[in-house]
Amino acid sequence: MATSSFSEQNKIGLGNFGTVYKGKLRDGSIIAVKRATKNMYDRHLSAEFKSEIQTLSKVEHLNLVKFLGYLEHEDERLILVEYVNNGSLREHLDGLRGESLEFSHRLNIAIDIVHAVSYLHGYTDRPIIHRDIKSSNILLTDQLRAKVADFGFARLAPDNTEATHVSTMVKGTAGYVDPEYMRTNHLTDRSDVYSFGVLLVELLTGRRPIERGRGRRQRLTTQWALRKCQDGDAVVAMDTRMRRTSAVVAAVERVMALAAECTAPDRASRPAMRRCAEVLWSIRRDFQEEQQRATAAAAAAGAGARRHDGSTYGPSITSLRSSTG
Ligand SMILES: Nc1ncnc2c1ncn2[C@@H]1O[C@H](COP(=O)(O)OP(=O)(O)O)[C@@H](O)[C@H]1O
Ligand SMILES: [Mg+2]
Repeated sequence: MATSSFSEQNKIGLGNFGTVYKGKLRDGSIIAVKRATKNMYDRHLSAEFKSEIQTLSKVEHLNLVKFLGYLEHEDERLILVEYVNNGSLREHLDGLRGESLEFSHRLNIAIDIVHAVSYLHGYTDRPIIHRDIKSSNILLTDQLRAKVADFGFARLAPDNTEATHVSTMVKGTAGYVDPEYMRTNHLTDRSDVYSFGVLLVELLTGRRPIERGRGRRQRLTTQWALRKCQDGDAVVAMDTRMRRTSAVVAAVERVMALAAECTAPDRASRPAMRRCAEVLWSIRRDFQEEQQRATAAAAAAGAGARRHDGSTYGPSITSLRSSTG
């Protein structure tokens, strides 16, 4: 394995676990190497931990970043994972990665995430709880499909990192953590559902879960956005970088309603991931149908308008056909 001795040039990020580097295996494949900062090799590999690592390396899904291995040597801890080349969802929402994401991209990304996480929750050996669903753990491919990173890793992270504004036992990222888990220290798959709900709101508003720079009413994005939706003002909460057609607004309202269910304070009233998938599929189906209808209607209106002018009659019929076919 080569990372050119962890040179600055190969550094791709910094997170809870430590620094992330780009590396190359002898067979030429590119990987990401997560290198733990020193002085946190406090624990030896317990049997339980080893079995967890073994489970993670068996897990395989199109929408999950493949876990390739774990190494511990002297004062180094390394996690090797598949490299995903188009940046994190957060970078895209921040406009750091070219064209902004349209609603249809965002909906596809949400569906990819839900597929990955429901796969983890239904994993045959035993359910795997992700524990750290957030926008920087969603990596995108060139086709803007999502791969979920760092499932089950939260346990490998050191205690008391800055990102964890909670008790030493609870792991996760501020703004995404299930309040019932914080209170009871008991983790279930519905804790992931809560984080997913926060992420859905982030995806539609473009805002971070906690917006420190804003006034009191807008600081907690989920609360603010869901309140707007309740008041019938979903449009106000929507990321201004998204095109807003009536089909988009109608679909956004439905996704927000799902986010409200996912972030219910009471864990028992949150839907399972499987159910979230069904809801999002149905929203996507209706959205696509509505969009096709709108395109056809616009083309028909265009054709009608041009019919007064005999010269464009022919071409407008052609464009109508191609847009509905
Ligand atoms: N497998 C990967 N492929 C490409 N980039 C990655 C990968 N894993 C992490 N990164 C990048 O490195 C950054 C830091 O990752 P990480 O240590 O997991 O912290 P966090 O998820 O909290 O941002 C991420 O935000 C992402 O931009
Ligand atoms: Mg990460």
